[in-house]
Amino acid sequence: MAIEKVSARSIKKAAALIKAGGAVAFPTETVYGLGADGLNPEACARIFEIKGRPRFDPLILHECSAARARKLFSKVPASALRLMKKFWPGPLTLVLPKAAEVPDIVTSGLKTVAVRVPASSAARALIKAAGRPVAAPSANSFGRLSPTTAAHVKRQLGCGPDMILDGGKTAIGVESTIITFYGGRPVLLRPGGLPLEEIEKIAGPAAAIKNTGGAPPAPGCLKKHYAPRARLQIIEPGRRVKGGARAGYLAFSKKPAGEFRAVRVLSPRGDLREAAANLFGALHRLESSGVKTIYAERVPAHGLGRAIMDRLKRASAK
Ligand code: TXA
Ligand code: MG
Repeated sequence: MAIEKVSARSIKKAAALIKAGGAVAFPTETVYGLGADGLNPEACARIFEIKGRPRFDPLILHECSAARARKLFSKVPASALRLMKKFWPGPLTLVLPKAAEVPDIVTSGLKTVAVRVPASSAARALIKAAGRPVAAPSANSFGRLSPTTAAHVKRQLGCGPDMILDGGKTAIGVESTIITFYGGRPVLLRPGGLPLEEIEKIAGPAAAIKNTGGAPPAPGCLKKHYAPRARLQIIEPGRRVKGGARAGYLAFSKKPAGEFRAVRVLSPRGDLREAAANLFGALHRLESSGVKTIYAERVPAHGLGRAIMDRLKRASAK
């Protein structure tokens, strides 16, 4: 299995693999995805196998333009249309009733489908060259840390994918924000790279999942997810904790007092965007340092901080 730097040639090769039913890991602006032909059920089945992902957890379809993406839905409320116009391409996934052509394996049998148009030019060039929607979950093993570099993909998936396209470190670093609609109101299924505040400015105040009268939350948003191998414990910033050779520390902006085997600072200037971009890379580094416990500082829960806290909470779930 080859890791190839993004170029016109490698994108063409990756697109040919996808057309032939293969699985290719590729960069997006959020995290790396493991892509396959989204209209080919057998190709999609390979994604589940390579990731060890349960079949009840549906995939996101990626398109190269908003016009093409829209065709994967059978119904689009006006507020969803406004979001598409404003935020695609970008780190926003919309969940809406699916078009007939979307295979059941993509949606795990649900009547809705998740779709997004990535902002990454390499991703869009790949989808365009493949000439079909590309189904792609994050390119990690099921339940493990998401990949923000080609090396992260390689470490977890090894020779599973037919090819890894290397586009360097991803810019946003956390997965897309997932939004569905209930009675025309947006509902947040997963906080992510597009802050909820931005979405609410365009689509109005979000309804809470529990008030949706039975609309399913994202089935893949399991409580325990994004987990590093070490035990992760969320702490208040600056709180003194017992360090030592078996402990790692994930700080928001300032190095902790005390000795730790490994320390990562997400953003020395206390910027949530920078922190999100560094989150998974820092967790991968702490994990591979061999520590038993990772202390992770709470970050402010607004803007991208909401996505960071969501990932930390899930990584800390027992
Ligand atoms: O940024 C991202 O979204 C990345 C990149 C590769 O695009 N992809 C990603 O995919 O994070 P994945 O499979 O790791 O997460 C997709 C989430 C899952 O939690 C899944 O349950 C949810 O989307 N999902 C997919 N289809 C759905 C549907 N019809 N209804 C509700 N949730 C859905
Ligand atoms: Mg994932």
